[in-house]
Amino acid sequence: MNGVKKVTDGIFWIGGSDRRLERFENIFPIPEGVSYNSYFVDDEKTAIFDTADISVSDQYLENLKDCLSGKKLDYLVILHMEPDHASLISVVAGLYPDVTVVGSAKTFTIMEQFFPEAAGFNKLEVKEGDTLSTGKHTFHFVAAPMVHWPEVLMAYDDASKALFSADAFGTFGALDGGLFADEYDYEKRFLDSSRRYYANIVGKYGMQVQAVLKKAAGLDIQMFLSLHGPVWRKDLGWLLEKYQKWSTYEPETDDTVVVYGSLYGHTASAAEAVAASIREKTGKDVKVYDVSGTDVSYLIGEVWRCKKIVLLCPTYNNGIYPPMESFLSDMAALGVQNRIFALGQNGTWAPVTVKLMTEKLQTLKNVTIIEESLTIKSALHKNDNESLDKFADAIVKA
Ligand code: FEO
Repeated sequence: MNGVKKVTDGIFWIGGSDRRLERFENIFPIPEGVSYNSYFVDDEKTAIFDTADISVSDQYLENLKDCLSGKKLDYLVILHMEPDHASLISVVAGLYPDVTVVGSAKTFTIMEQFFPEAAGFNKLEVKEGDTLSTGKHTFHFVAAPMVHWPEVLMAYDDASKALFSADAFGTFGALDGGLFADEYDYEKRFLDSSRRYYANIVGKYGMQVQAVLKKAAGLDIQMFLSLHGPVWRKDLGWLLEKYQKWSTYEPETDDTVVVYGSLYGHTASAAEAVAASIREKTGKDVKVYDVSGTDVSYLIGEVWRCKKIVLLCPTYNNGIYPPMESFLSDMAALGVQNRIFALGQNGTWAPVTVKLMTEKLQTLKNVTIIEESLTIKSALHKNDNESLDKFADAIVKA
């Protein structure tokens, strides 16, 4: 079997990895690639769980054909309609016209929006609590609205104790030959990507993720079969703990991250001086990012990781330096909560960004904005040392 990988008895991975796509959803850079996971169930009845992105269609359809080995495809279960998994639904239904497509009522509404021909598919509508049996496997459907779209279902299999978790527990990153998370040094290879994926894709929906985690707690889950990234069969608790923190907006670490905007390097010097002072006072690592040179999705990932966020930027057109404004807007859109912010500004004639950034940050829930701020005029000077030291001190003590 070509690209097919065995997950467990009767369940096979038939997806593909894409290392050519520059940006996921045409927004998020994915230099590490991404995998589109689809699963084949080989039982008295055959079934596939979701399809894949059109970019891997040749490999996907070949994998499916290999798995079927001439058998009939009975069910195509759709847990999530986003086209990264759903773009091949119509192709599969066309190749296997007797297949019954399984999904929620909302799934079929969205399906017909993308594929009007879906009106003619054989359909089986399911909702939370319903089951689908293929013989040895019985799949129990669990609703997971807004993790990541409103129609999302998950499916729990009694036989394998696997949770087909849709986008949940997934990550950016192609699969480098290994299917299982325990085949990698996951923390080194995938954790940053996994956090960036979570924060940017479902970060806004912490409450809905919490609701699903509560439902999952009532099931004896031995495997997570996500639609992206490796399959989990060991140490599920480690990932669940991350999800618990991420979905309750609890910082993963006490670390500080410094994000600056700088036209000519002067605010950058101030940001580095602040980071150096915090390092000196705490002996801990501090990450520094240029807001203009870092895709905002990475900064959002860092916001989910760190407890303290230091923002420094110049005043621009009597407003906030635009790339910093975009970062602040993204934090608001994703509902960032429960963080400590420290603010600094640079202005050659009328600095106002601390005031303006404060107003933006005050719209977030449960955030602390440190009273002590830093103002430099054009460039950092020796006579700024005292205020810089007080600023760093306030951050350390916050
Ligand atoms: Fe992987 Fe929400 O699609």
